[in-house]
Amino acid sequence: MIQFDKVTKVFGDGTEALKDVSLTIPTEELVVLIGPSGCGKTTLMKMINRLEIPTSGEVYVGGKDVSSVDAVELRKTIGYVIQRIGLFPHMSVERNASLVPNLKGWTKTKKTEQVYELMQMVGLDPKEYLSKYPLELSGGQQQRIGVVRALAGNPDIVLMDEPFSALDPISREQLQMEIKNIQKKLKKTIVFVTHDMDEALKIADTIVIMRNGQIEQTGTPTELIESPINQFVQDFIGIERINQKKSIGKRELQDLIPSFNRSEQSSYLIVEANILVEEAINLLENVGIESLLVKKGNKELGFVNQSTLLRAMLTKEEVS
Ligand SMILES: Nc1ncnc2c1ncn2[C@@H]1O[C@H](COP(=O)(O)OP(=O)(O)O)[C@@H](O)[C@H]1O
Ligand SMILES: [Mg+2]
Repeated sequence: MIQFDKVTKVFGDGTEALKDVSLTIPTEELVVLIGPSGCGKTTLMKMINRLEIPTSGEVYVGGKDVSSVDAVELRKTIGYVIQRIGLFPHMSVERNASLVPNLKGWTKTKKTEQVYELMQMVGLDPKEYLSKYPLELSGGQQQRIGVVRALAGNPDIVLMDEPFSALDPISREQLQMEIKNIQKKLKKTIVFVTHDMDEALKIADTIVIMRNGQIEQTGTPTELIESPINQFVQDFIGIERINQKKSIGKRELQDLIPSFNRSEQSSYLIVEANILVEEAINLLENVGIESLLVKKGNKELGFVNQSTLLRAMLTKEEVS
């Protein structure tokens, strides 16, 4: 768990970047900080690994006040991915990915196993890519290595500051899905900064909307869409998304079935094809399982999962 308690930040030039921010980030959640440029997202995030220090207030990681923890030790337990990738160009992919395992003094076998597994998770064949250098890779591939590097030391927490914003839309979409899967599989707490609402809605468990150094509203994607607390939040989410959600939420699952992934799932509930999309989402949220098998009479139409449903409801994407 990460806690901010009445945190303020005033920079040397008098800029008030954060004003009395209190926030709890639960363990194993993916929390997105979002808001206009300059609202304090990066400053707030950097306090978690002590790259910024509060002017007043406290930050706790795992119950410990970070100001009382050695900064280097702290950073070994917190992965960090930034927009400009930050791979070292003169080091091979393998050396870049192994930086934290090396600092931690892991054995060669343990390092190799870890890096191989993570490379496969982000869809890059380790045999082909580990010996390459960053400049031989595309932007999307480099950013995947950035993700591998951040996870390689097996941190509990990963901080990601607009990690995908320089990528083309296809790589971006793929990485969003990969990071969501990785978070679930490896059970990480991820704090993710973006200014893109579509990205936030796709990946977040919880979204924190910020403005001018303060938090405007915190909630799940569904909560924010259903009950934006003020005009700013409503405008930031966008009225067309709110309307879209309302209209798709009222449709039946069977209307959406052709676009769903039909691959076999391990744990699922069986539901009838005529239940409403919004009911299906509530069911998945409350029961805590991954997917639903949709049946019409005796016929199995296919599987749906929460992220497909949320995406259909919350983004402008066409559902055919
Ligand atoms: N080192 C600094 N010195 C002075 N002002 C800063 C510094 N870093 C950030 N700021 C200011 O603090 C505010 C918040 O910045 P930041 O946290 O980077 O915003 P965001 O990540 O939301 O775009 C901005 O007004 C920014 O210009
Ligand atoms: Mg920033």
